[in-house]
Amino acid sequence: MAALKKLIAGNWKMNMLASAGVGLARDIGANAQDLTCELLVCPPATILRPVAETLADTAVAAGGQDCHEAESGAFTGDVSAAMVGDAGASHVILGHSERRHGLGETDARVRAKTLAAHAAGLIAIVCIGETEAERDAGQTLDVLSTQLAGSLPDTGVTGANTVVAYEPVWAIGTGRTPTLEEVEAAHGHIRTTLEAALGAEAGAIRLLYGGSMKPENAETLLAVANVDGGLIGGASLDAESFLAIAAAAAS
Ligand code: PGA
Repeated sequence: MAALKKLIAGNWKMNMLASAGVGLARDIGANAQDLTCELLVCPPATILRPVAETLADTAVAAGGQDCHEAESGAFTGDVSAAMVGDAGASHVILGHSERRHGLGETDARVRAKTLAAHAAGLIAIVCIGETEAERDAGQTLDVLSTQLAGSLPDTGVTGANTVVAYEPVWAIGTGRTPTLEEVEAAHGHIRTTLEAALGAEAGAIRLLYGGSMKPENAETLLAVANVDGGLIGGASLDAESFLAIAAAAAS
């Protein structure tokens, strides 16, 4: 299969008020037209609509950072997948480690959210990754298998509606990254695991690496086999560094 077009996704987390977020989106959108990768930014839910509107005529898509699995109801503070889509998102991040480990989100919950995202026509970016203790105990690949099996629905998963992000928990926001060999082993294992579950369709699912990706390390990380893009936190809050990563993906 031909190489997948790389996806560079920015996870703004709980950062940016409206004026700063719209300004950042404008700066990214204005400089994205010649890039050969796909670009996505995921702002907080409160500014998803103005950011999506700012990006409407650009090559950059907008996404949500989470959604609830229910269609509607008494879930104070949550947003449904349809609401995320209604605000202008094409994608939604699900199962980020800050939700799994900070808020106790389980694989089953991530799977339910993935089904909800698919039903709403969103592309789910399903995050998985081992903690430092799990890596030290030699459990990394087993953790990834378990999280994939538990977090992805049994039916309906395609390259058009699902992206998997490998984010070692200990690499997120720490400035530390796995070695290129470790990234290759993890991504190869994810691809093989998806092939066992999905057959040939597994080759169409983009696998993003996330965790301290920056302009300085993006080119080498993005050149690793089975790395089809990046999920970027800190370095996505600055247009210049985010675009530098996108340029590395396109090179
Ligand atoms: P980081 O975050 O790039 O700041 O490490 C990545 C993420 O959490 O998606």
